[in-house]
Amino acid sequence: MHTQGRMSVLRVLISINIMVSASTNSSLMDRQQRSFILPVEANTSLSEPVDTKAVLSCPPTTQKAVLVTIRWEIILRDKPSCTRAYRRDTNETRAINCSDETISWDSRPDRNPALQINPVAITHDGYYRCEVVTTHGHFYHGYHLTVLVPPDVTLFQLENGTIVCRAAAGKPAAQISWTPGGDCHTVEEPLGNDTVTVQSSCRWEDHRVSKVSCSVSHLTGNRSLSIERNSGDKLPQKFVRILIKKTEVTSVVEEDEMQSYGSYTEKSNL
Ligand SMILES: *[C@@H]1O[C@H](CO)[C@@H](O)[C@H](O)[C@H]1NC(C)=O
Ligand SMILES: *[C@@H]1O[C@H](CO)[C@@H](O)[C@H](O)[C@H]1NC(C)=O
Ligand SMILES: *[C@@H]1O[C@H](CO)[C@@H](O)[C@H](O)[C@H]1NC(C)=O
Ligand SMILES: *[C@@H]1O[C@H](CO)[C@@H](O)[C@H](O)[C@H]1NC(C)=O
Ligand SMILES: *[C@@H]1O[C@H](CO)[C@@H](O)[C@H](O)[C@H]1NC(C)=O
Repeated sequence: MHTQGRMSVLRVLISINIMVSASTNSSLMDRQQRSFILPVEANTSLSEPVDTKAVLSCPPTTQKAVLVTIRWEIILRDKPSCTRAYRRDTNETRAINCSDETISWDSRPDRNPALQINPVAITHDGYYRCEVVTTHGHFYHGYHLTVLVPPDVTLFQLENGTIVCRAAAGKPAAQISWTPGGDCHTVEEPLGNDTVTVQSSCRWEDHRVSKVSCSVSHLTGNRSLSIERNSGDKLPQKFVRILIKKTEVTSVVEEDEMQSYGSYTEKSNL
């Protein structure tokens, strides 16, 4: 009832405003117009974790309004825009250009016109808009959907004492911080499917630092991992020598040294 009243006022206000705007510059009128228009066409941002089920609702309508049609317009990157529509008079649904079967009506549209995405995938980033046409007017609600992917978090120490914290294939990129702070170098690697691997490598000159923690903050949840620090001195001198040789004069490395280097890289890849 209340919304319906506002809708009628809205129409009156808009027509008054159009008639008087040429001669009057009333900021009060502008404010009123804006506050009445908002409920009719609304857009919201929505973040959903990958591999879950998302339900997008249509805008509420007034109780007295009789439903005529419901239309979902789905605009995804690299795909033709897909439309799913329901007509009340014929009780029929239609789908145009809709190839993604994981996006569908949540239940029977005559009962609940919501859209469901199940399961949510990275390719579902996009814009979803529900238009409800009733005997009392048109109502719109749009969603800018961003799909979130939690990163895989690992923390490990390299043989040369460097400690690496890696947040792999997250969307958006994760943030990495350390306690205590060290001498760190952080790189981001985009993986091409909108996910990013963030890797932070640190060293601590202070040998009294025995335990370090890496905190990974992400919209899907924060994580913290700790590791006991072994001093890099424990690395056998032989390995260090071979590594230096390997980078400087690759072609003259002797065979048994090659084998040692092979076992070293295997370990450091863990
Ligand atoms: C179907 O896809 C074409 C090509 O992208 C687009 O122009 C058209 O608007 C789409 N139709 C509907 C009803 O979404
Ligand atoms: C509309 O169609 C559905 C099945 O498609 C049916 O179960 C339902 O009873 C119909 N509703 C009306 C009001 O005819
Ligand atoms: C430690 O080893 C990693 C991997 O081999 C290397 O990228 C890094 O530069 C090394 N750091 C130091 C300080 O030697
Ligand atoms: C994104 O691409 C990376 C690298 O190919 C892959 O490991 C990861 O699983 C992909 N993520 C998703 C959610 O598709
Ligand atoms: C995650 O960490 C960030 C930055 O440290 C913080 O702003 C945010 O509130 C944390 N989120 C949760 C869910 O704890």
